[in-house]
Amino acid sequence: MRYLTSGESHGPQLTVIIEGVPANLEINVEDINEEMFKRQGGYGRGRRMQIEKDTIEIVSGVRNGYTLGSPITLVVTNDDFTHWKNIMGAAPISEEEQDNMKRVITKPRPGHADLIGGMKYNHRDLRNVLERSSARETAARVAVGAVAKILLKQLDINFYSRVVEIGGVKDDAEYDIQTIKDNIDKNDVRVIDDSVAQQMRDKIDAAKKAGDTIGGIVQTVVEGVPVGIGSYVHYDRKLDGRIAQGVVSINAFKGVSFGEGFKCAELPGSEVQDEILYDAEQGYYRGSNHLGGFEGGMSNGMPIVVSGVMKPIPTLYKPLNSVDINTKEPFKASIERSDSCAVPAASVVMENVVAFELAKAVLEEFHSNHIDQLKEQIEAQRQINIEY
Ligand SMILES: Cc1cc2nc3c(=O)[nH]c(=O)nc-3n(C[C@H](O)[C@H](O)[C@H](O)COP(=O)(O)O)c2cc1C
Repeated sequence: MRYLTSGESHGPQLTVIIEGVPANLEINVEDINEEMFKRQGGYGRGRRMQIEKDTIEIVSGVRNGYTLGSPITLVVTNDDFTHWKNIMGAAPISEEEQDNMKRVITKPRPGHADLIGGMKYNHRDLRNVLERSSARETAARVAVGAVAKILLKQLDINFYSRVVEIGGVKDDAEYDIQTIKDNIDKNDVRVIDDSVAQQMRDKIDAAKKAGDTIGGIVQTVVEGVPVGIGSYVHYDRKLDGRIAQGVVSINAFKGVSFGEGFKCAELPGSEVQDEILYDAEQGYYRGSNHLGGFEGGMSNGMPIVVSGVMKPIPTLYKPLNSVDINTKEPFKASIERSDSCAVPAASVVMENVVAFELAKAVLEEFHSNHIDQLKEQIEAQRQINIEY
């Protein structure tokens, strides 16, 4: 399973082609749209999220509600494009027209791809960089993840994501999976403990008032993953490694951890390794889940617990020093329409990115042309954990 996304932030559309989804999988576009809406929500987001409501159009690979096994193409139309037709259209325009539009960007924003992207591709209008480096692309990645989640749900593999920290305000208790399930999406900051939600909103408001932004930590929990997905043999097939790559590739994500993660540095080994137990019904299981569902780069049957840290949004109302690429003069970095905190939305992005990496690994492990073939193989794999 693989995918390619295309599209600029203010271009006509985002497009994604997904290859390798087994045939006969029932796809309801509303399930994909639900994830899209979730990504757009959350306290602290800017005006664009109010202007646009992302909806998916499926233009290939699905017929009468079922996948064909051929590449699936999903399209998200950018409603805002009507206002950007001249600036972002494919047709050539004169320099004069460009000047009239006054949209040429020569002032790179710190913390964005603007300056280095401009150097790398020799662009003199930094809009050529920011249109693609924008987190708008994460909408396409959520669409892919939504398809992956539909596939994995058929295998009884389910995803839950939550916010653990925003700007130092924490909801980092270790909840059992039932508590997470019961309290998911209860508030607009996506925390389990409702009493923390207002403190987080206050923190976001305070940052906004100060012209600043804040980041945080998000967590994805995956339930029902069969044992043995991944590899202890090959570095590039280790599932934790692949998930880590996927997570850190999300815009603004600066770190990833599994289970106790960085706390492992201070805990003794006896509080980090999970003891092996057995019962006839569920087979082998662990007495705890400090390692977040992984041993030796493979899933061990316990819930996968992944955390990711997002830096504060780089576009600030409180401007930072930068240098104009034409005049080489210093300036205070300009403000584009921007979020003050996108951590709740980022938790949705991460959940879907993890879903894609897991679906990809599952389909490599159990090559399947159609969904029933895949289900049979997963069932057999679950039996191994009991009969071994
Ligand atoms: C869901 C989401 C929304 C984001 N919204 C914004 C935004 O409104 N303004 C902004 O400057 N950066 C935003 N970012 C972060 C930037 O896209 C990102 O920091 C930038 O592309 C540079 O990439 P890097 O931080 O990975 O180096 C957002 C990121 C995510 C995941």
